[in-house]
Amino acid sequence: MTKDLRKRLIVALDVSDYDAAASLVGSLAPLVGWFKVGSVMFTREGPKLCRMVKDSGANLFLDLKFHDIPNTVFGAVTSAAALDADMLTVHISGGEAMMAAAVRAKEEAGRSEMIIVGVTVLTHLTYEDFHSLFLTDRSTKETVLALTKLASRAGLDGVVASARELPVIRRHLGPDFTVVTPGIRMADAASDDQVRIVTPKQAIEDGASHIVVGRPITAAPDPVAACQRILENMAS
Ligand code: C5P
Repeated sequence: MTKDLRKRLIVALDVSDYDAAASLVGSLAPLVGWFKVGSVMFTREGPKLCRMVKDSGANLFLDLKFHDIPNTVFGAVTSAAALDADMLTVHISGGEAMMAAAVRAKEEAGRSEMIIVGVTVLTHLTYEDFHSLFLTDRSTKETVLALTKLASRAGLDGVVASARELPVIRRHLGPDFTVVTPGIRMADAASDDQVRIVTPKQAIEDGASHIVVGRPITAAPDPVAACQRILENMAS
């Protein structure tokens, strides 16, 4: 298994408390390149949890999906840079000026290598949700592509998108654009609340730069074994 694949696996630390997160990070840090801290755990444990992830030697993906006026997002990204985050998310639907403020914040903080990715369409949304939210007859794929182009124009480094939209994003944005793909499940696993799901192997084949895996690892009876299965599937 190549070390590179490990650097492309992000484990979502969506667990109940600091100790559960610390135990997962302790056992998984040798296997994965990244841990993702989202709103649930950040609201509970915040900077302490982020420091623990960084101390493990892994990269920190701060997934707080910032969506606010440009001045506020500028401040939020400045704070994320101070936490030494290696990647963070903003909602593309916050608009071009908001995304540009996020990019300006990381540059002014001297953290131009920090990857900022835009959230396109959340993977749990169904076709019906999608139409009532976006009031459009466009397909999901067309909307994701339009949002992705907007993110790229505003200077973001990449997007979060379902693997189902990966091929079209790769075709239009080229090989260096970061595409982070959640909604990953092994073929024999439960989908939980995710709708647009694919296997790790399929996501890698279709050009995901990183895959995000949460419950298939964190809720497994043996998270290390589950993580190894995912890595093997990515490599297959
Ligand atoms: O447990 P599961 O593998 O479904 O977790 C997926 C993770 O990716 C969660 O932390 C979720 O918040 C996040 N995510 C997502 N869809 C997006 C963006 C982020 O599922 N579009």
